[in-house]
Amino acid sequence: MADPWQNAYDFAVQVARAAGAVIRKAADDEIKVSTKSTTVDLVTQTDERVEKIIIGSLKEEFGDAHCFIGEESVAKGEPCILTDKPTWIIDPVDGTTNFVHGFPFVAVSIAFAVKKKLEFGVIYSCLEDKMYKARKGQGAFCDDEPIQVSDVKDIHKSIIISEHGTDRSKEKVTKIFNTMQKILCIPVHGLRGSGTAATNMCLVAIGAVEAFFEIGIHCWDIAAGAVIVKEAGGILLDVDGGEFDLMSRRMVSANNEVIAKRIIKEIEIFPAERDDAPVQKK
Ligand code: IPD
Repeated sequence: MADPWQNAYDFAVQVARAAGAVIRKAADDEIKVSTKSTTVDLVTQTDERVEKIIIGSLKEEFGDAHCFIGEESVAKGEPCILTDKPTWIIDPVDGTTNFVHGFPFVAVSIAFAVKKKLEFGVIYSCLEDKMYKARKGQGAFCDDEPIQVSDVKDIHKSIIISEHGTDRSKEKVTKIFNTMQKILCIPVHGLRGSGTAATNMCLVAIGAVEAFFEIGIHCWDIAAGAVIVKEAGGILLDVDGGEFDLMSRRMVSANNEVIAKRIIKEIEIFPAERDDAPVQKK
């Protein structure tokens, strides 16, 4: 049977590369910054421009049969609902804060889901010029070389990534730092964070770290990475050890279940409203 999504996969790689070139160029210009949900939730004209370029190219190629969930479109009020229709899930600039500050990890993240199942993911770490991609059942790659998660099972020999997100309420920040302190003192070899969830997941996929977890991320931050981690041999779980749910804003990605479950023991969970929660009418 002909492969229905190969063309879409190849096209996504092209689009991600072109989007990354726009971001690289914009990084040299003056960056105009605004804020979204909080004063530290940044957005730039480049985020909006690149999302328009990506969605425009995909619409031109695939027409109106496909749906889109894009970070900046959702910020402007578009729905964030995953249906059975072929759906592109896009973060045009993952690591916007890094982009604004010149911290050198910024990624374009493009995933594709059909019947609510992720088919492929493409992450272009555009400042490093590294192209990560994976398709369900076909392995994961960085610059066309196969990649594999680490085989470390001993948590004491691991590096773990977590992030702080963009909510600075004292209660949440306290829980985040309590969790980090508990993990650090297991002890693990180290804690890290690149400032982009997409890149963090690629670091799990290449075996540079054993796990990345976060509460408060969005589906566009992690959809492509979810396919890449899984295809590199890793696993995804909810922060309570249950099944991973893309729209839940909670995720543990790890090289194996032993590491994932050990981290989960230490995570202090706090509430995060689902991405697909009904919008409250004012
Ligand atoms: C953010 C990054 C960051 C993560 C935040 C995300 P953005 O995405 O992925 O690593 O901690 O939760 O919102 O806003 O730069 O696309």
